[in-house]
Amino acid sequence: MRLPDAPRINPSILSADFVNMQRDLERISGADLVHVDVMDNHFVPNLTFGPQMVERVQATSPIPLDVHLMISDPDRWAPEYAEIGAASVTFHVEAARDPIALARRIRDIGARAGVAAKPGTSVEPLLDHLGEFDQVLVMTVEPGFGGQSFMPETMPKLVELREAAARTGADVWLQVDGGIGPDTIGQAAEAGADTFVAGSAVFGADDIDGRIAQLRALARAHRH
Ligand code: DX5
Ligand code: ZN
Repeated sequence: MRLPDAPRINPSILSADFVNMQRDLERISGADLVHVDVMDNHFVPNLTFGPQMVERVQATSPIPLDVHLMISDPDRWAPEYAEIGAASVTFHVEAARDPIALARRIRDIGARAGVAAKPGTSVEPLLDHLGEFDQVLVMTVEPGFGGQSFMPETMPKLVELREAAARTGADVWLQVDGGIGPDTIGQAAEAGADTFVAGSAVFGADDIDGRIAQLRALARAHRH
């Protein structure tokens, strides 16, 4: 599967209308990947949907799936999301028993393997292993809810990751998620992000296509 080049704008369907999901998936067909937030009411204090719903989104979406698992025990549950056909499956490093082994299993199934870090989690242990992952997600809010404010104090992690990727030659996407909109995407792009999740900024816009194009243009203009 040929996936879009950077900068990538991935709208989060956490901000979609859950009973009009097909309509909302069509509304974001001009985006790069659709970001699917799976929450289990355990790793985060919120509950969204599981594999059955993700399977329907996979069958319905015109664009590939970028699944973000905010769940406990991803070692057990993440491979199932790769089996469904998601282009990318990202689990949290705080929750995984063996992040490298899990990333290898996800890749073996044929999906891109992503690893996510909450705002308070250091990415330093990942720096020497970037080749094991296709994406590192730097959370720019505490995971759990849409519509929160971007945390600029997370930006040094992107700089560290970008430098380590250049040093080791790892071909890894650097994703940011939380509070990304026209006012914040530039600083994330400058710090080194190339893949941008936006929920409320996309679904809250009157002109969804226009907002996606605006975010892409801003990310391009502030490219690291
Ligand atoms: C939060 C989720 C995000 C969320 C972002 O835990 O991981 O993907 O949808 O929403 P906004 O863009 O509104 O901050
Ligand atoms: Zn997310």
